[in-house]
Amino acid sequence: MIRTKVMGLGSYVPDRIVKNEEIPFLDEKHVRQATKQTETDDEWIQRRTGIKERRYVPQDGTTATSDLALEAAKRAIADAGLQPTDIDCIILGTLSPDIHFPGTAVFVQKKLGIADKTNCACFDIRQQCSSFVYGMQMADAFVRTGMYKRILLIGAELHSHSLDYSTRGRDVMVLFGDGAGAMVLGPMETDDAKAGIMYTSAHADGNGAMDLYLKIFEIAKAPYVGYDANNRDENQIKYPQMDGKRVFLNAVRGMVMSTQAALAKTGLSWDDITWFVPHQANLRINEKVVEVAKIPPEKVLNTIDLFGNTTAATVPLTIDYWRQQGKVKKGDRILSSVFGSGFTWGAAIFQV
Ligand code: UT7
Repeated sequence: MIRTKVMGLGSYVPDRIVKNEEIPFLDEKHVRQATKQTETDDEWIQRRTGIKERRYVPQDGTTATSDLALEAAKRAIADAGLQPTDIDCIILGTLSPDIHFPGTAVFVQKKLGIADKTNCACFDIRQQCSSFVYGMQMADAFVRTGMYKRILLIGAELHSHSLDYSTRGRDVMVLFGDGAGAMVLGPMETDDAKAGIMYTSAHADGNGAMDLYLKIFEIAKAPYVGYDANNRDENQIKYPQMDGKRVFLNAVRGMVMSTQAALAKTGLSWDDITWFVPHQANLRINEKVVEVAKIPPEKVLNTIDLFGNTTAATVPLTIDYWRQQGKVKKGDRILSSVFGSGFTWGAAIFQV
């Protein structure tokens, strides 16, 4: 039987570390000012979110989401022992695309130097914090049907340029960071039903669509983009908006449900799972999920304290970080559950 295996893993975060202490002093270009720009502090951020620091790209206009994706992709391809030209499909999850269209996967294809060499398929997917599990489900289906054999699955986000660095936007702004993670997925012949990607589930509830969103424009309106920096209501469309409490409660529910369903549907128990890697949005969400779903705390891997919420990138970034620390090892079985804007959620069980 053909099953899908993780052939390689890689991640990338920009060098600039932004600690909570610096956050109140950042202006709209995330340049540090002498005076406070936002009413917030380290104590609030740590107590409510568990975040201590995050990474930001330079603000000199040289780095796009595709550049973060490229670095993670190169590392995953090298980890798989492959060349970029071996890739026959790119699936990229992001809510911060380089531009509105075309999608960011084609920019990554070009930057990998394989655009005219392979003309490989390029998909952008838009499931925000749930993108990596959604993308894994797609990739698994493609590999098992024989459609593609070397799929580059990437989650990449550049948040720092689209945050509201003011007290108005503080509930969202303090949460997000820049980063990327990638995997190469391909086929293996095996009779072991637990090998490789064992299980994926993906769900959505569009009733929650406007509980966490970023408009930028409204296509229903003509002109469809309006921007007046002096008009508070109007310039709000440039920044993410969130009903934090509704998102929080739904995230706990979605991640608990999808985690429990993953075990019930596969017949596995926590003894069969090496690590639980939840989406990294808020440490309190993950602690609640661990408590309600009765997950052994020693099996939980988080990186929210170091990278904040990197949306589509959190799962591969967290796995790769803990692999570099020597915790995650080849063959470990991971249960990952995710929740994000949409609302979207899901879970996956896979070996790395
Ligand atoms: O990946 C999926 C996407 N996102 C999430 O999953 C995030 C889900 N939601 C959350 O993580 C939390 O709801 C937040 C971290 C966003 C907020 O935490 P909370 O415990 O729900 O706080 P709150 O919204 O109830 O706000 C409490 C207070 C408010 O002040 P008042 O009205 O009590 O005077 C806020 O204005 O904290 C205030 N506040 C802040 N204070 C300092 C909100 N943000 C900040 C801030 N610094 N950054």
